[in-house]
Amino acid sequence: MRVSVDPKSVESSPSVSAPANESGDAAPDGQGSVPVRTPGDDEARGEGNGASEALRPHAEDAFAAELAALAAQDDRPRPARWKLSPWAVATYLLGGTLPDGTVITPKYVGPRRIVEVAVTTLATDRALLLLGVPGTAKTWVSEHLAAAISGDSTLLVQGTAGTPEEAIRYGWNYARLLAHGPSREALVPSPVMRAMAEGMTARVEELTRIPADVQDTLITILSEKTLPIPELGQEVQAVRGFNLIATANDRDRGVNDLSSALRRRFNTVVLPLPESADAEVDIVSRRVDQIGRSLDLPAVPDGIDEIRRVVTVFRELRGGVTTDGRTKLKSPSGTLSTAEAISVITNGLALAAHFGDGVLRAGDVAAGILGAVVRDPAADRVVWQEYLEAVVRERDGWADFYRACREVTA
Ligand SMILES: Nc1ncnc2c1ncn2[C@@H]1O[C@H](COP(=O)(O)OP(=O)(O)OP(=O)(O)O)[C@@H](O)[C@H]1O
Ligand SMILES: [Mg+2]
Repeated sequence: MRVSVDPKSVESSPSVSAPANESGDAAPDGQGSVPVRTPGDDEARGEGNGASEALRPHAEDAFAAELAALAAQDDRPRPARWKLSPWAVATYLLGGTLPDGTVITPKYVGPRRIVEVAVTTLATDRALLLLGVPGTAKTWVSEHLAAAISGDSTLLVQGTAGTPEEAIRYGWNYARLLAHGPSREALVPSPVMRAMAEGMTARVEELTRIPADVQDTLITILSEKTLPIPELGQEVQAVRGFNLIATANDRDRGVNDLSSALRRRFNTVVLPLPESADAEVDIVSRRVDQIGRSLDLPAVPDGIDEIRRVVTVFRELRGGVTTDGRTKLKSPSGTLSTAEAISVITNGLALAAHFGDGVLRAGDVAAGILGAVVRDPAADRVVWQEYLEAVVRERDGWADFYRACREVTA
């Protein structure tokens, strides 16, 4: 028997209402007093419902005004069930100014072509694999793509070594299963199944951490665009608009390598590290500014010199050579990614706000840098000390930073 799922029946299943319920486990009816937001529920996004109070709003909520402005002025053709045309999705990610003067802030700072290829892939029948070293915005880009294309970035499976097949396919509400036997009502759809039924974008994070046999569940979904439910003699066929974005870390390669059969189902886009120090400073200050505002921290302009310094230290240690190319350096074991620079600066701003005079200074970032650089206490400490004495100490205008680092390193 071949049955296409009525999206309504999937939606009305009680156990798909919690965005955090990614494992497909049954959620109890009547969620107590904890407010639960239904993904895709537009009503729930209004004022005063808790969404605006969220510590980290979803991209589609945080940038709702930009998305609405883009949708209103976007007269290019949209693929089936896309909220925006591919051009508008790329503009949402890369930023720009609309004809009516609305400014779209850049979300991703990097080569335009990469974003264009990623967006175009999602308009075809191939899925998108975002690959890159840690902290290159794979998760960030995936969330924003889903928000711009489907208006919902919450159809997410978090990949871990323990991700079961049910997280990608479907599970059962055991109370209903026992009471009524296998039926549509007892079935708990996974985020991927919901995306297929509703023609939305599904996301799988850290694909290569998922055990190989579970990963292979995706092969039928991506090549046949169907998800069989043998227990019911039914299947869920993906409707137009469905696609999938997976992210994977370069460094995890070899943990659970993608089978070549699965890899063929994806177009791979590699996200690079920021090409220049200026680009990286730009990324860090934008993001820190956003995070800082939500935490009521001091404004970034006061801290731009420290941001530049953190980025310089990270880039030099990562690259194994000083900016002027004169001194070779040993690289520490940590990744020293842009994401880590962002958190070092955010922590520094919090220190400055709560225990300093509100201006980000060398002393506020030194401990954070040390923590990011020295991951392996034995080997990395030697690398750091060499860098401190050979580079930081000698550099003009870095005396305050040298002192602050010596203080925390000792
Ligand atoms: N090129 C970039 N443009 C904009 N933001 C960036 C860029 N690179 C990094 N970031 C920022 O870095 C942060 C971390 O990115 P994210 O978590 O998406 O990295 P990731 O590649 O998924 O890392 P991991 O492999 O550890 O999962 C985000 O807040 C993002 O804003
Ligand atoms: Mg990630």
